[in-house]
Amino acid sequence: MTNKLNAFIEKNVREIENRLTELLSQKRSPKSLQSSMIYSVNAGGKRIRPLLVLATLEDLGASSKDALQVACAVELIHTYSLIHDDLPSMDNDDFRRGKLTNHKVYGEAMAILAGDALQTLAFEILTSLNNTSPEVAIKLIRLLSVASGAEGMVAGQVLDIEGEEMDLTLEQLERIHLNKTGALLSFCIEAGALLADVDNENMINLQKFAKNIGLTFQIQDDILDVTSTTEELGKNVGSDESSGKVTYPSLLGLDKAKEQLAIHHQLARNSLAFINNEESLLLQFADYIVNRKH
Ligand code: IPE
Ligand code: IPE
Ligand code: MG
Ligand code: MG
Ligand code: MG
Repeated sequence: MTNKLNAFIEKNVREIENRLTELLSQKRSPKSLQSSMIYSVNAGGKRIRPLLVLATLEDLGASSKDALQVACAVELIHTYSLIHDDLPSMDNDDFRRGKLTNHKVYGEAMAILAGDALQTLAFEILTSLNNTSPEVAIKLIRLLSVASGAEGMVAGQVLDIEGEEMDLTLEQLERIHLNKTGALLSFCIEAGALLADVDNENMINLQKFAKNIGLTFQIQDDILDVTSTTEELGKNVGSDESSGKVTYPSLLGLDKAKEQLAIHHQLARNSLAFINNEESLLLQFADYIVNRKH
């Protein structure tokens, strides 16, 4: 990781985590629920999604006092999706972010409810963007709803579950990955671009970038599931094989999966040409995502 990206991550992760803590101190919710929500949000994720919102604004030379709030909204949705993804009825995993999964600590009912509450909290906090026009705020709420719902992340999760024990084509697998993981990552880039009031042409370039880093992100996730260790990853390795998932390595073999990773990495890099800055944070994020070890 470059020094610039490292410094950006360190500074902003602190701010993101402080804001998340503030947002989760809802005084009137039951202590047990609050504790389950805080457990997963504070379990030490990489915070890539909120960081991407902030990096997009910075690359575009823009800033917004509401960016941190939008960044936190997507991290809340992401954390909810992981709590539900780990449930026995879904991927049935015991470890996440180096700790026991939410349902292992709080039980299934509380894990489901904590996920539900994180999801609604994400939308609630998007109603208090005090420095953004109501039009842009509504666009953001709509974008996040679509990205996380029945045409986005949830669609991907459904296709992922239905795909277990089935033969999938590369095209079908790509669709699953674009939905289950790509949709939320695309939201992050588009949200940053919207807050920066980017023009149409560059919005399209950024959408292409987002699509390709969404794919690289999930291809690398599939690869790490077969090449890493549970200690390094903080979640169970071999989980995909034991639940009969089709993944890039299981469908294509490890070498071809790595080729696909490199192809989409290059496509992502190409679509950032308009930023014309070798120091671009998004460019560095693309490199980080394909080289990450956890
Ligand atoms: C894991 O996402 C789930 C996928 C979409 C592959 P991350 O790898 O970003 O998980 P955290 O937030 O760092 O734990
Ligand atoms: C998770 O994909 C995608 C979502 C949670 C939406 P995976 O099931 O591959 O993620 P991990 O490997 O459990 O983090
Ligand atoms: Mg899953
Ligand atoms: Mg999983
Ligand atoms: Mg995985």
